[in-house]
This record gives sequence, C-alpha cells and structure tokens, in this order.
Amino acid sequence: MTMKLFVPAFFIVGLISLGACSPEKLPPSDEALESKAEALAEQKIETGKKIYESNCAGCHDSGVSGAPKPGDKDAWRERITPGIAAMVKKSIEGYEGKTGVMPPKGGNDTLTNEEVANAVDFMTVNLK
Ligand code: HEC
Repeated sequence: MTMKLFVPAFFIVGLISLGACSPEKLPPSDEALESKAEALAEQKIETGKKIYESNCAGCHDSGVSGAPKPGDKDAWRERITPGIAAMVKKSIEGYEGKTGVMPPKGGNDTLTNEEVANAVDFMTVNLK
C-alpha cells in the first residue's frame, strides 16, 4: 500500500522539479538573439568602414571608372540584384566591368576574404 502511494508522489515531485528547471534550459529569447545579431552586424559594418576607407575609397568615393559610390542607390541597384555574396566574390577575385576594372581585393592582397566582405557590407548597408 505505501509503495503504491510512494510511486505517484515521487512522479509528481519529479514533474514539478523538471518544470522548475526547464526555463533555464530554454534557448535565449528571440529578442536577445536579435539584439545580439544586430550588435554583430554593426561591428562588421564598423570594421568594413575602416577597410573601405583605407583600401577602397580611393576609387569608390570619387567614382573613378564608374566605381559605385557607397550608398548611391542608382549605382548599386542592378549590381545588388545577383546578391551580396556574388558581389563579394567579384570583389575578392577582381573583374572587368562595363566601365572599368575592379582589382582583386581592391589591389591589397593582404586583406582577408572576410575583410573584403565587411567592406562590401559597409558599401551597401544603406541600400536595403
Ligand atoms: C583601382 C580602383 C578601385 C579600387 C581600389 C577598388 N575598386 Fe571596387 N570597383 C572599381 C570599379 C572601376 C568598379 C566598377 C567596374 C564595372 O562594373 O565596370 C568597381 C566595382 C566594385 C563592386 C561592384 C561589384 C559588382 O558586382 O558590380 C564592389 C562590390 C566593389 N567594387 C568593392 C570594392 C572593395 C570592397 C574595395 C576595397 C577592398 C574596392 N572595391 C576597391 C574600382 C576599384
């Protein structure tokens, strides 16, 4: 008789303590994740800005040979259609376009692919 009572009681206590533990095991809330992602994105843009200023601005600020200026929506509209990843690839490898030559990594092969990607992110950040 006592055994029969003991089992359900144990079961219920187990359930309650499970319930008490679970909030800590839940993944962080969407809000927390979003603000983390935002902070990360901002950090990339900041890094990208510095890379841009010292490696890309020489051509892209003045628009020499048709180099698209950061934030110039008209200049970027068609370029952005294939996607940022495609633009990053072209910036890393270099290419010859309709109006001029974009040298690989802007001519600085000490830049990492990620640094080039951050610079492209900075250049296109206000277009979306
Ligand atoms: C020597 C001048 C020069 C430098 C330095 C330069 N660019 Fe360019 N870039 C160009 C020109 C010119 C074009 C446009 C070519 C065309 O489409 O005819 C271009 C185009 C681009 C495009 C558009 C690609 C597309 O898909 O249409 C991106 C993105 C880009 N550059 C990123 C960068 C980044 C990032 C840097 C620095 C790391 C950089 N550029 C440095 C001249 C330069």
